[in-house]
Amino acid sequence: MQIVHTIAELRAALKNQSGISFVPTMGNLHAGHLQLVEIAKQHAHCVVVSIFVNPLQFGANEDFGSYPRTLEADCEKLKAAGADIVFAPNVTEIYPDFDGKNLNQTMTITPPPIASELCGASRPGHFSGVATVVMKLFNMVQPDVAVFGQKDFQQLFIIKEMVKQFNLPIEIIAGDTMREASGLAMSSRNGYLNEAQRTQAAQLNAALQSMVQALKNGVKNFSALENTATQKLNQQGWEVDYISIRSALTLQPAAAQDQHLVVLGAAKISNNQAGKTRLIDNIEVHL
Ligand code: PAJ
Repeated sequence: MQIVHTIAELRAALKNQSGISFVPTMGNLHAGHLQLVEIAKQHAHCVVVSIFVNPLQFGANEDFGSYPRTLEADCEKLKAAGADIVFAPNVTEIYPDFDGKNLNQTMTITPPPIASELCGASRPGHFSGVATVVMKLFNMVQPDVAVFGQKDFQQLFIIKEMVKQFNLPIEIIAGDTMREASGLAMSSRNGYLNEAQRTQAAQLNAALQSMVQALKNGVKNFSALENTATQKLNQQGWEVDYISIRSALTLQPAAAQDQHLVVLGAAKISNNQAGKTRLIDNIEVHL
């Protein structure tokens, strides 16, 4: 496995490769990420994984500074998982006009209107930052296939839309959400929680699960289900951002006749630094 830090090194490493699959990440890798590498291996000969904590997708009051950076341990995991190339650039490599303070990225991807709903409502600019960095990484790696997790359902949706609307010759493949035995979706941000808080964190998935059960039982009053789950989580000490039942095909609010739904949630939980950690989860439902 080769570890490269610059675009020039990356291009040299990829020069004679045909059939490239790509897994973009922000590092601090867990089994969810490694499963995407496994999927990537099945789709192409050469697997590239990027590790880059992208400043453009973090809001001013978010955790860019404290986001866990564990490059050495990540590379060990990726080597064991069978990745071929790790691309771990610094900020200047991705944002050439970065002056040590401002990124000066004056051209960005404008994501579709759905990017200002759900996670985008409380994280303005987030999906523009994600789409812009993913477009840059796609241009650097030029993969045939790229693998993204269902865990970030809205992100996956927006990336698919970007590939379609910009006619990119890249096949996007989705990997299932990997979970702890408790149902808690694996996330680098779970590292902010202590043992008791991690146990509590499984309540988010439990709330979505009970909504899925109700949907499967034929309940069509979506807003009542959303409100009940929101109230319950708030009573359990969460600060709910949104709980929403949507069409999995369009991400628009679910309509009674929709058969393929997704139940999404985002909420903040107290962490062990006496701050709050924002967690997200979702479950797809076929009625
Ligand atoms: P990051 O949060 O590191 O996630 C990298 C990839 O791993 C994403 O496609 C995400 O959906 C997937 N992933 C995370 N947790 C998962 C889990 N429990 N099960 C399955 N897949 C999981 O998402 C990002 O980074 C960034 O926004 C990025 C796309 C790299 C752009 O900066």
